[in-house]
Amino acid sequence: MLNLGILISGRGSNMESILKSIKKKKIPINPAIVISNKPNAGGLKIAKKLGIHIEVIESKGFKGSRWQYDKKVIAVLTKHGVTPRNGLVCLAGFMRIINPEFVKKYKNRIINIHPALLPAFPGLDSQKQAIEYGTKYSGCTVHFVDTKMDLGPIIIQAVVKVKENDTADSLSKRILKEEHRIYPEAVNLFARKKIRISGRRAIIS
Ligand code: GRF
Repeated sequence: MLNLGILISGRGSNMESILKSIKKKKIPINPAIVISNKPNAGGLKIAKKLGIHIEVIESKGFKGSRWQYDKKVIAVLTKHGVTPRNGLVCLAGFMRIINPEFVKKYKNRIINIHPALLPAFPGLDSQKQAIEYGTKYSGCTVHFVDTKMDLGPIIIQAVVKVKENDTADSLSKRILKEEHRIYPEAVNLFARKKIRISGRRAIIS
């Protein structure tokens, strides 16, 4: 079976929704390992409680290059069977840019969730960016990871209406609800081999 590795840095609510959906919806993928770059990430406790292997590869104070760090991540993924042949890597609030070598090695096998309708508002604080820009709608995007940040073929998007009195916080909460719905859905599509990539487009069958 396909093996799943999830990379986190924080509270891990997307990770949790993926892990719970795998069980509930019988998604044909084995949740093999959760890796955090921060030892105090809240998501680690959740993963442990759900019986998933966890590993911390601390990035703070790491002496080597970005690629050397990523090689440590790849080694742990590989140890748990999350390989370029038989793996899927989900970035779920992982607050590091991954090296192009990592992306190339796991070509079209790394996916990410972003709290905006890409290509609008890439980068950090997307919900705040959307409010300040004055868009009437925002949302979230699950996409394949490319060598450029927040790019790569889009798998699923969900739209959220921006209310007149929204703050970055209130908008984030409503977007997060949609994130928890579409990220597991994207994992399910991947696991069931329903996604085909053609140029910039991810075609769902
Ligand atoms: C989410 O809003 C996600 O879209 C962004 O970082 C946040 C992570 O939240 N990339 P969580 O750790 O999954 O709760």
